[in-house]
Amino acid sequence: MALRRILKFPDPELKQLAQPVQNIDGQLQQLVSDLVETMYAAPGLGLAATQVGSLERAVVLDVREAEPKLGLIKLINPVIVQAEGSIVWEEACLSVVDYTAEVRRAAHVLVKAWTPEEKEIEIDAEGLLAVALQHEIDHLDGKLFIDRISRLKRDLYRRRVRKWIRDGVPPESRKAAASI
Ligand code: NI
Repeated sequence: MALRRILKFPDPELKQLAQPVQNIDGQLQQLVSDLVETMYAAPGLGLAATQVGSLERAVVLDVREAEPKLGLIKLINPVIVQAEGSIVWEEACLSVVDYTAEVRRAAHVLVKAWTPEEKEIEIDAEGLLAVALQHEIDHLDGKLFIDRISRLKRDLYRRRVRKWIRDGVPPESRKAAASI
């Protein structure tokens, strides 16, 4: 296992569209282990391959604070097959440093995916897990939660980031709680 560097907004690689995994091989399993290690070290509740510069459709999540019986979830090629209702959640992301915003998403989703052990699974999710699944699948599609807030808010955040970059303030020193 190895820690990977988490890409941060405005890194253009975060906008790349991940491709479906064709073959669950050793390299893919290594990627998933690295995602798990990197997520826990951050610490965060979720991490998508896109955030470490990989174009495989793989995500990991651990939202046991909300769903104690679930534990660690590793998903390959996750797809939302049903979405219902609407929920507003204050989101934070390991790739969006020092920022949270309320985002509207489906309240209830049914997600189909594969596990690294090549089992097909279905997850029926609501609350934090539903939000986190949609957030991670967005990453695989090259989207960040700030793409789902108003242009005005996004622009204000972009300006703050530019200022950190200009002033040389390491964004890593600023932490948001419960990043997904
Ligand atoms: Ni995120």
